[in-house]
Amino acid sequence: MALLEIENLVVEFQTASGPFRAVNGVSMKVHEGEVLAIVGESGSGKSVSMLAAMGLLPWTAKVTADKLAFNGRDLLGMSANERRKIIGKDISMIFQEPVASLNPCFTVGFQIEEVLRIHLGLDKAGRRKRAIELFEAVGIPDPAERLGHYPHQMSGGQCQRVMIAIAIACNPKLLIADEPTTALDVTIQKQILDLLMKLQAEHNMGLIMITHNMGVVAETADRVVVQYKGRKMEEADVLTLFENPKSNYTRALLAALPDNATGDRLPTISELFVDEGAVQ
Ligand SMILES: Nc1ncnc2c1ncn2[C@@H]1O[C@H](COP(=O)(O)OP(=O)(O)O)[C@@H](O)[C@H]1O
Ligand SMILES: [Mg+2]
Repeated sequence: MALLEIENLVVEFQTASGPFRAVNGVSMKVHEGEVLAIVGESGSGKSVSMLAAMGLLPWTAKVTADKLAFNGRDLLGMSANERRKIIGKDISMIFQEPVASLNPCFTVGFQIEEVLRIHLGLDKAGRRKRAIELFEAVGIPDPAERLGHYPHQMSGGQCQRVMIAIAIACNPKLLIADEPTTALDVTIQKQILDLLMKLQAEHNMGLIMITHNMGVVAETADRVVVQYKGRKMEEADVLTLFENPKSNYTRALLAALPDNATGDRLPTISELFVDEGAVQ
């Protein structure tokens, strides 16, 4: 059984100029131990589709789907209370802006211990012990001391490690990483990706890696969904996608990689791409 199953997901926002479809009939599945990359340019509905799956969109979003299920359980039909027990525990998410995703008013130790208190009901000593273990697992030096620090006292890379520690705190079955390295220095990006892949393999998690970077796809994914303007253009295993891309949009994304481009200037996606429609 798939961990997460999405069929024909549609997300519509009410805007001043009328309804806007940010996600327009997307379907995908992720299995245990599998890394699925969702790739596509900015604004293609990658984040919105995952936020919809997790029930984290504002009320202005209208979400419909033929199926939206986690471990066979219908997410759309369940109460907000039931859903809250799954989100942050069995499914967790890491965002692009690590510093902004943490609360500036509380120490990072408090923030990770809250998750352990709410979802696992650990007592004070148990929470502290587990928080130290988690900081060690994500490579934060001097974990006991670091627990007392506020986000602003830490670098972007260290904050992202804290976010990852919080995300894996309850041993999730599915981790959604939304552009987890985009806001970080290039030198730190690889370390964070390596850390995510190590944790994914150790815990046999399903991982959804959202990215606009084909290099990240090549390094991490088993399977790839290519999204454009809220629609799925193509889905393939990673080797097939790179060796034999079916859609013009995927070919355009690959041609825009620095290795494949010729001449002084990288071509833009719109120069390379002729829209030929979506797949189901
Ligand atoms: N709360 C919102 N209200 C209205 N439009 C939104 C909202 N959130 C996202 N959008 C729009 O939905 C589209 C898809 O956004 P998003 O999923 O964030 O793209 P990306 O693929 O870069 O993650 C964009 O055009 C964005 O402006
Ligand atoms: Mg996004």
